[in-house]
Amino acid sequence: MKTIAGNSYLKKEKDNVFLDLIPLNKILAKMRTPILIFLENRIRENIKMFLDVFSTIFENFNCLYSFKANYLPEICKIIKSENIGAEVVGLLELKLALNLKFPSNKIIVGGPYLPRELIKMCIENNIKEIIIYNINDIRKVDSIAKKHNHIQNLCIRINSGKYNSNLGVNFNDQNLSNLKKTIKECDNIKITTILSHYSTQMNNIELFKKNVEVIAKNLKFLSKNGINIKNMNLGGGFPEATVMNQKQLKKIALGIKSTIMEYNIHYDHIYFEPGRYFLGDAGLFIVKIIKVSDNRHVFLNIGNHICPKFAKCSLRFYNASKIDLSHNEPTSFLGIVPTDQDVLAKNYFFTQNLREGDIILVTNTGAYCLTFSNRFPYSLPKILLVKDDNFEQIFDPNIDKDFSINTII
Ligand SMILES: Cc1ncc(COP(=O)(O)O)c(C=O)c1O
Repeated sequence: MKTIAGNSYLKKEKDNVFLDLIPLNKILAKMRTPILIFLENRIRENIKMFLDVFSTIFENFNCLYSFKANYLPEICKIIKSENIGAEVVGLLELKLALNLKFPSNKIIVGGPYLPRELIKMCIENNIKEIIIYNINDIRKVDSIAKKHNHIQNLCIRINSGKYNSNLGVNFNDQNLSNLKKTIKECDNIKITTILSHYSTQMNNIELFKKNVEVIAKNLKFLSKNGINIKNMNLGGGFPEATVMNQKQLKKIALGIKSTIMEYNIHYDHIYFEPGRYFLGDAGLFIVKIIKVSDNRHVFLNIGNHICPKFAKCSLRFYNASKIDLSHNEPTSFLGIVPTDQDVLAKNYFFTQNLREGDIILVTNTGAYCLTFSNRFPYSLPKILLVKDDNFEQIFDPNIDKDFSINTII
């Protein structure tokens, strides 16, 4: 059997497509498109590939899955069973992580918005670290920690400086003196970690090196001013595993390590927070062509409401109804949201022969599609989890209504 999209759990043999060990036709006989599929074995393989590389190259390495990439409970359960920690941005995700029994010393929580209720829940549950994007939030954490007679570890997210980003702290003399004063006056917090997340879909070692440089520059600045931080967190940003194979991943990890050594950074623990790498190529849509126009503009029965540009997926398209035909004709794929902006891909090389009703696989849609999907009034797709020769439905829009509400178990 030949693999499709470089994914060992997506194969073709003659006219048949297999999702893990299940013939696609078996699924299509039972339900209508569009369907969103997750391949459990691929998720596990991606995690193993990542851990293999990073735990060999880095001592005291901690891996925290970025829940925002995909917070379906069934998906997070799989990730937890591989002993990965959790990086969560808000109350919903934190409740989910705790309900799924992620150990609290493997959960870090934070983002640009830290409501009191979130901070309280972190403290009451002994969460490993709260991530601070704004120095003024430190006092807020301290005052709640004081009431609970607790010392809370904090991680400061620094601004990576990429594309004039506004996320995280941009240190200067003024906010440094604010930080010093805050540390002096707050007895119930301890700054343990510095975080910089540079970008997403980073397919180039230079971007990862820049991220280390940002950390190095800030650590130096802080330590010159008497603030010593012992752990560093380099965030996520890896592309889908099918886009970055294990050999390339190893090159990236070695490049990060050599940059750390070059800048003479000493740390106790190093954290990474992958999201897309674990999930991206483990998800795919099974969809149908609903219209073909003269100029090879093809409408699919999904669109940006569920496969959004914001998700920045490396979309690939395969004609499952003609899986053996080569891809040689530029084709544009359009979605069903009634706006001319609903374009999934332009001039993508595709099978010359295509018809209404053809079944199309849209791959690399496992990360961020659900997170950034919107409430355009079309039904959400059914979601299946496939493993070996079994599949189970993990989301039915008719019963579950909305996956984002159902995350609070
Ligand atoms: C702080 C932080 N960590 C990790 C991630 C995960 O990124 P990715 O899915 O690209 O690995 C993100 C994504 O935006 C992030 O903002």
